[in-house]
This record gives sequence, structure tokens and C-alpha cells, in this order.
Amino acid sequence: MYSPGMISQIFATKSVAEIEAADASDAEGHQLKRTLSATALTMLGIGGIIGTGIFVLTGVAAAQYAGPALVLSFIIAGIGCAFAGLCYAEFAAMIPVSGSAYSYTYATLGEGIAWFIGWNLVLEYLFAVATVSVGWSGYVARLLGTFGMHLPYALSHAPFMQAAPNSFSVVTSGAILNVPAVLIVLALATVCYIGIKQSAEFNTVIVTLKVAVVVLFIVLGMGFIQHANWHPFIPAPTGEPDQYGWSGVFTASGVIFFAYIGFDAISTTAQEAKNPQRDMPIGILSSLVICTLLYVAVSAVLTGMVNYKHLNVAAPIALALDTYPQLRWFSVPVDLGAILGMTSVMLVMTIAQARIFYSMAQDGLLPPVFGRIHAKFRTPSVGTVVTGVSAAVIGGLFPVDLLGELVSIGTLMAFVTVCIGVLVLRYTRPDLERPFRVPVPWLTCTLGAAVCGFMIYKLPGSTWVRLIVWTAIGVLVYGFYGYRHSKLRTRVAEPVR
Ligand code: ALA
Repeated sequence: MYSPGMISQIFATKSVAEIEAADASDAEGHQLKRTLSATALTMLGIGGIIGTGIFVLTGVAAAQYAGPALVLSFIIAGIGCAFAGLCYAEFAAMIPVSGSAYSYTYATLGEGIAWFIGWNLVLEYLFAVATVSVGWSGYVARLLGTFGMHLPYALSHAPFMQAAPNSFSVVTSGAILNVPAVLIVLALATVCYIGIKQSAEFNTVIVTLKVAVVVLFIVLGMGFIQHANWHPFIPAPTGEPDQYGWSGVFTASGVIFFAYIGFDAISTTAQEAKNPQRDMPIGILSSLVICTLLYVAVSAVLTGMVNYKHLNVAAPIALALDTYPQLRWFSVPVDLGAILGMTSVMLVMTIAQARIFYSMAQDGLLPPVFGRIHAKFRTPSVGTVVTGVSAAVIGGLFPVDLLGELVSIGTLMAFVTVCIGVLVLRYTRPDLERPFRVPVPWLTCTLGAAVCGFMIYKLPGSTWVRLIVWTAIGVLVYGFYGYRHSKLRTRVAEPVR
């Protein structure tokens, strides 16, 4: 039986000082290692951002929803992320702990909502690893195909798929397992298990290569822009739902929102940053600005090179290059860039997920084993293994569209909560030292929550249903485990019988 003060206990908040003190080491006193500089953090951000979104989703978003105005969709989603990014920066500098949005919520809105956000961050990070592994597998199959090696369908596709677009039911596809997706996730989890510094160095190499490919596409493609392709800039609505017109521009911004996910993952490495107060805001905001500029330029060049009506393909950038014989040579480097890009996204997301598990275990909301830090590598080893194995299973079984929308809804929920949390803490704890402050907080936070809330509203109903199912499972786990073992609650409340 639960005690009568259950509701107030669920809304109990943890003090910032407590969060910082409790989050420093595991039960055996092992601590995470502080090795990351501002540049490494920015690289981690870019590593987590540029991937499936820009290399896969841009084409469909232009062809089906926005036309050449895809550029505006990228700017709108970028603005929503900028508001959220500013809020993340304030929190990450003020409470530099690895729990990110989960810990910020614990300090502002209470344990119950913190659990909900932590559970949603699993949807973001763990499911993002799985989603991107499916995109990765598709690009690897494409590249091998270029060299005449064809992977068998049954071993390179998901055995399950949505029964119809926007449908909750799934049906079998005839495939057995997406083997490349499983293998890449397990390989990257091994890298993360060994160490954050090694992971960050590996990430820096990959990020440099993938950014070079993107910049080269912009520079080379600029010479082949046909201005006629940009007219009309916002094509007239066709009568199909959300196709063209401003409605299409907004829907496309919801679709390509996935491309921006990842900058927030930096905040989960706050305890491994050398100078988190100064470097967290730099890492979060500069990676976001760099990627926004690259995305706007890529979408302008892409829709200038190829008429938007022809872009409804899974590899739109490769299509643009294939359209001009002088640029065909660049197709294989782009495929390689995309594969590398997705690799670093998975790497960063695996790092982030393991640290969220770690923080939740520190608070007693997950079993202590999730909080164990490896004695030699000083990484959250068990959390990394659980993330790797679960993401490998999910990525091996399900298709990209179903997974991607779940990632977006989980992330947007976290963004909305972080925006609200910043405002709440400004009123409840105005005294706290804030090395970075969101400018005009009532406006920035409200607009951040509103823009992200609008994107949630734009996501399909089937994703909402999956979120409800996921939340119901979360409530059960919290009820049967987290609520009973919460360190905060068992300390402040009467013991549970
Ligand atoms: N932003 C990441 C991607 O597009 C999740 O792959």
C-alpha cells in the first residue's frame, strides 16, 4: 500500500545542490572522467545532429510538403530548436550533470514528471540509435550495390512494417532481420563501453569528414542551380493534405525536425566536460548554429539543382548529383559521408542514453546496476550494454518511419519540459548562479514550448498512440520500482510498506 501523501511525494523536487552532489560518483566511488573541451563538445553536437535527417528526409519533405520553401521549413524548425537550445544551455551550465532534461525536471517540476521525461529520453536516444541504424543499413546496401554486391532482402530489411501510413498496426514484411543495423549498433556500443575520450576522438574524425562532404556538396552544387527550380518558391496547395502552401511548409518543418535532434545530447556529458559552466552553452549553441546554416544551404542548393517534384526519393542528394554527369563522381563520397554521418549520430546517442540510465539509477528510479561505472574505463558500462543490445534488437526488427516519429515525439516532449523548467526555476530559485542566462526568458521559453508543442501537434495520431502505450509501460515501471526505491522519496517521506 502506498502512503496517503503519495501525490505530493510524486511532485517532490530535488534541490540543485543535491543533484550535483549525488551525481558525482557511483556506489563504489568511481567517477566519470573530465576530458571534453569546448571543441570536443561542439563536435559531439554536430556528430549527433547531421545524419538521417539531412541525407534521407529532405527529399520527401520537399516533394510532398514544402517544395523549394523547404528552406523556410528548416529555418522554422531551427528557430524552435534555437529556443530549446538556449534553455538547454542555461540548465546545462547551471546544473552540469549527466541526467540532462531528466535532472533539470527533477529540480523544477518534481519526480513524477522527471520520470516521464527520463522515460521519454529513452524514446529519444535509444530509439534514435535504432532509427539511424536502419538508415545506415540502407545506405550501406546502396553503396555495396554500386560495386555490384547486393545484400539479400531478407537479411537487410526489417521483418515488421506499418500496415499503412499513419496506422498503429504492424504487419510482417517477409524479411528476417536487418543484420547490418544490428551489427553497427553493437560495434558502436563497444566503442562507447571502452571510453568517452576514445569515443569523442573517433567522433571528431567522423564529424570532420561528414562536414567536408556536406560543404563540398554545397560548393559544387551551387554552380548547377537552375533558378527556374525555385519558382514558385511556395507552390500553391494541391488539395492533398498539407501539400504545399504555408500548411505544407509547417508540416515539412515537423518532418525535418528529426534532422536537428542531437544538440541536446551534449548536455548528458556535462560531468565529463573540463569546464561545463563555460563550455556547455558554447557546445550546444555553436553546433546548432553550424548545422542550421549547413541545412539551409543544402536545402537551397538541392531544390535549386533538381525540381522539387522529382525529389521523392530516399537518397535525394545522390539524385541531385546523378542529374549532372560532371558531378557523378561525387556520389560515392556522399554515400560514404552519409554512412559516416549516421555512424557518429548513433555514437553520440549511445553515449547519451547510457548517461541518462546512469542518472536515473543514481536517484534510485532504476536498479543500481544501471549506474555502475566501469572501474578501468570509467564509463557507465552496464547502461551502455543495455542501450546497445536494446537498440540493436529494435533496429533489427522495425522500419525507419515508425521509429523516427517516436524519436521526434519523445524529443519534443523533453524540449517543451525544458523550456517550461527554465521559467519555473527563474521564479522558484532566482538566487541560483546562472553562468549562462536565456535572454528575455518569458518570451524565449514560451515561444520554445509553443513551437515545439505545435510540432508535436503535427505528428501523426499513430505516434500519439505509441507514446501513450510507452508512457503506460513507464508508469508501471515507476509504480513497481522507481516509486519504491526513489532515494529522494524514501529520504523525505515515511517509508513505504
Ligand atoms: N539528427 C539526427 C539525424 O538526422 C538524429 O540522424
